[in-house]
Amino acid sequence: MALVLTVAQQKGGAGKSMIAANLAAAMAAGRRVCLLDIDPQRSLKRWHAIRSTSRKPLPAIDFSDVSGWRLQAELDRLMADHDVLIVDTPPQVDAEAKRAIRAAHLVLIPLQPSPPDLWAAAGTVQLAATEKRPVRLLLNRAPNASRLRTQVEAEAATAGYNLLTATLGNRAGFANAFAQGMGVTEASPKSVAAGEITALLAEVEALTA
Ligand SMILES: Nc1ncnc2c1ncn2[C@@H]1O[C@H](COP(=O)(O)OP(=O)(O)O)[C@@H](O)[C@H]1O
Ligand SMILES: [Mg+2]
Repeated sequence: MALVLTVAQQKGGAGKSMIAANLAAAMAAGRRVCLLDIDPQRSLKRWHAIRSTSRKPLPAIDFSDVSGWRLQAELDRLMADHDVLIVDTPPQVDAEAKRAIRAAHLVLIPLQPSPPDLWAAAGTVQLAATEKRPVRLLLNRAPNASRLRTQVEAEAATAGYNLLTATLGNRAGFANAFAQGMGVTEASPKSVAAGEITALLAEVEALTA
């Protein structure tokens, strides 16, 4: 049975698709990894299509965008056939996102360090709690130190939310790798961004071991 990671956040532009792609790419060497894109914007479908035309030899990642009434059967099928299933969700908690959260071993909620992003996380945190699924917030586009970041970290702690220790900075490398159908660990393995994804993956694996 696959390890299922669901990336969810009601706010668009939080980094869900970018993080799903980078985790998939970082895990793909040696594991059967599948991405399931249930966001109607289908960003990952585009990413995966670019990847399949890359001249650089890249490990295979399976892809599905089956959603709607067939979603549960698709989740069951993909979980049976893979080691890792990463689900990218739309920017709203709808019936499909609920199913993806229910199937998850860990729900990741990316957010930029600003209060509205934290408030937007509440719905997903609540849903994961209702479904009794472990959930972690992940600071994305986070400056190393800023008053805003400190404030958001304090507010998250007050609200009882679990923040990952790993954070991702605002780095052009993330957008560049995405545009090439790669993760940063593939496009620029020695970059700071790649180090951040490696640290994120280590923390995710420790939480789901
Ligand atoms: N840490 C980051 N550094 C630089 N660009 C980022 C970062 N995170 C996200 N982006 C860019 O921001 C945009 C929105 O990210 P995306 O993953 O599509 O968000 P979502 O899926 O939550 O709507 C994309 O262009 C993406 O490449
Ligand atoms: Mg997206």
